[in-house]
Amino acid sequence: MKRIAVLASGSGTNLQALLDASCTGALNAEIAVVVSHRGDCGALPRALAAGVAAVSLPLADLRDPAVRAAYDRQLADILTVFAPDLIVLAGWMLILSPLFLDRFPGRIINVHPALLPDGVGAEVFTSQGTLPVLRGPRTVRDALRHGFPITGATVHYVTITVDTGPVILREEVPILAGDTEQTLHERIKRLEHRLLPRAVGMALAGVPGEEH
Ligand code: GRF
Repeated sequence: MKRIAVLASGSGTNLQALLDASCTGALNAEIAVVVSHRGDCGALPRALAAGVAAVSLPLADLRDPAVRAAYDRQLADILTVFAPDLIVLAGWMLILSPLFLDRFPGRIINVHPALLPDGVGAEVFTSQGTLPVLRGPRTVRDALRHGFPITGATVHYVTITVDTGPVILREEVPILAGDTEQTLHERIKRLEHRLLPRAVGMALAGVPGEEH
């Protein structure tokens, strides 16, 4: 059976969607390990409750390049012990360095709470016309602030330039009158929970291409 490693920083609902899909057989893969840089990350108890190895690996200093490089090396070493076929960033908030990405070429995917195009383009085609692309960590707030009619979720391969890798699955979410950041993010997450297990299955099957 294929093996997945999950990196998470948040409440872990996307991890839960993967654990559930693996448990029911909807996803034919085993979650081998979950790692977080935050000891209070909700994903870690979810992993333990499912009998999955949970590793808390705190980052001492986000800004010191030497500390950061050592962290990525250690993270890659830990993951390698679990021999993952695929690494899933499920709400992982640290940008991974090229030295980390080079250890797992074409085998890292990310879920992003907005619509992304394939590549570095600044616009994305949607059912409501062309919209500016929202990258970075505050896309739910940004979608509301720009007054977009829709936003969405994207699962994509991770490449050196953040939020630009080839798209595996993407789907739109309506923005409703009266939406707050919380209500909109909840709607996006419900979509993510559906998309992510499917995208993981596709990536494990090698769709699209392996060499990214
Ligand atoms: C998700 O919306 C993900 O797209 C974003 O952070 C959120 C994580 O949620 N990067 P959870 O921790 O999986 O509940």
